[in-house]
Amino acid sequence: MELNNRLILGIESSCDDTAVAITRGFKVVASVINSQDVHEQFGGVVPEMASRSHIERMIPTLTEALKEAKVTLSEIDGIAFTQGPGLMGSLVVGTSFAKGLAMALNKPLVAVNHLHAHILSHFIQEEGMVAPVFPYLCLTVSGGHTQLVLVKSPMEMEILGKTIDDAAGEAFDKAGKMLGLPYPAGPVIDQLAEKGNPNRFTFSIPRIAALDFSFSGLKTSILYFLKKATSENPLFIETHLFDLCASIQEAINTALIQKLKEAQKATGLSCIAISGGVSANQGLRNKLNEWKTQDPTLSLHVTHKKYCTDNAAMIAVTGNFLFEMGSFATQKVAANARLPF
Ligand code: KG4
Ligand code: ZN
Repeated sequence: MELNNRLILGIESSCDDTAVAITRGFKVVASVINSQDVHEQFGGVVPEMASRSHIERMIPTLTEALKEAKVTLSEIDGIAFTQGPGLMGSLVVGTSFAKGLAMALNKPLVAVNHLHAHILSHFIQEEGMVAPVFPYLCLTVSGGHTQLVLVKSPMEMEILGKTIDDAAGEAFDKAGKMLGLPYPAGPVIDQLAEKGNPNRFTFSIPRIAALDFSFSGLKTSILYFLKKATSENPLFIETHLFDLCASIQEAINTALIQKLKEAQKATGLSCIAISGGVSANQGLRNKLNEWKTQDPTLSLHVTHKKYCTDNAAMIAVTGNFLFEMGSFATQKVAANARLPF
C-alpha cells in the first residue's frame, strides 16, 4: 500500500526499549532501538529505572535515527509517539519528549496506541513482507498482552478474545525464570528449544471458554514438575534444559494456535496475522507454516523479527495512518498507562 511520501518520526517508550524510527510513507528509513540492559540483574523490568533510562537514552537515540535516515528535524512532517498502554513513567518520558519536539518544530503530533501499532506493524513496507488485506484476524502476543483481534480497518478493531491472566510473553519469561534463564527469557527459550524434543515433557495449559486464553496455570504446572524432578536429581534442569525449553514452548504455542484456528473458523477470515514479541518465536512460526500447508487458501502474515518486539517503526507507520485520517493530538495529550484499546 502506497499512501503517501510523508516523513514521520516515531517515538516508542512504553516499556524498557527506547526506540526512535523515521518512515517515509510506509518504508523505514531509520529504526534505532536502544534496549535497556539495567533490568537484567533484577529478572524483570524495574519501572523507575526504565523511566530514568529513557531520559538518558532519548536524545542519543533520536540523533542516531536522524543520522541513519540522513534527514534533519526540519524535514519531518509529523511526530508520532506511544501514548499507552505501558509503564506510566516510561510513557511520560516519550510523551513529553514528543510534545516538546512538536511544539519547538511546529509540527503535527499524533498519539498512537501501542497495541494498534503491533497490529499495524504488518504495513511496514520491506522486502519479504506482504501487507494483509482488511479485514484480517490478528493474534497479538507480547509481554503484557495476548489478544485475538478482528481488524476491520486501521482504526476499527474488535477484540474477540484475550488472556484472563498472564500474557503469552509473560508465560515464557516466568517459565525461563524457573529454569534460571536471563530476562527476557522468550528469545532464549526459543533458541534452546531448537535443540530439544518438544514432546519429552507434558505441561498442561487449561482450555477455557470462548476465544480467551489462560497461561497462569502453566507456572504452577512447571513449578510442581521441577520441584519433584530436582528433588530426585539436583542437576535435572541442566541435564534436560533443551527438552524443557522445547516442551514449554510447545505447550504455549499449541494453546495459541488452537485459539487462532478457532477464531479463524468463527470469523471465516482467510487473512491471518501474528504480531508482538512472541510472534518472533520460531516454533510458533513453524506451526503457522504447517497450518498453511494444510490449508493453502489461508494468507498468513508475519513481520520481520525486528518488527515483532517493541520498535518505533510500527509507531511511525500507525502514526501515518492517523495523520492521513486527520487524527491529531494537541499539547493537552497525556500519557495513559491503561489507554483503552
Ligand atoms: O512486544 P514486546 O517486545 O513488548 C511488549 O509490548 O510487551 O514483547 C516482549 C515479550 C517478552 O515477554 C519476550 O520474552 C517475548 O516477547 N519474546 C519472545 C521472543 N522474542 C521476544 N517470546 C518467545 N520467543 C521469542 N523469540
Ligand atoms: Zn509491545
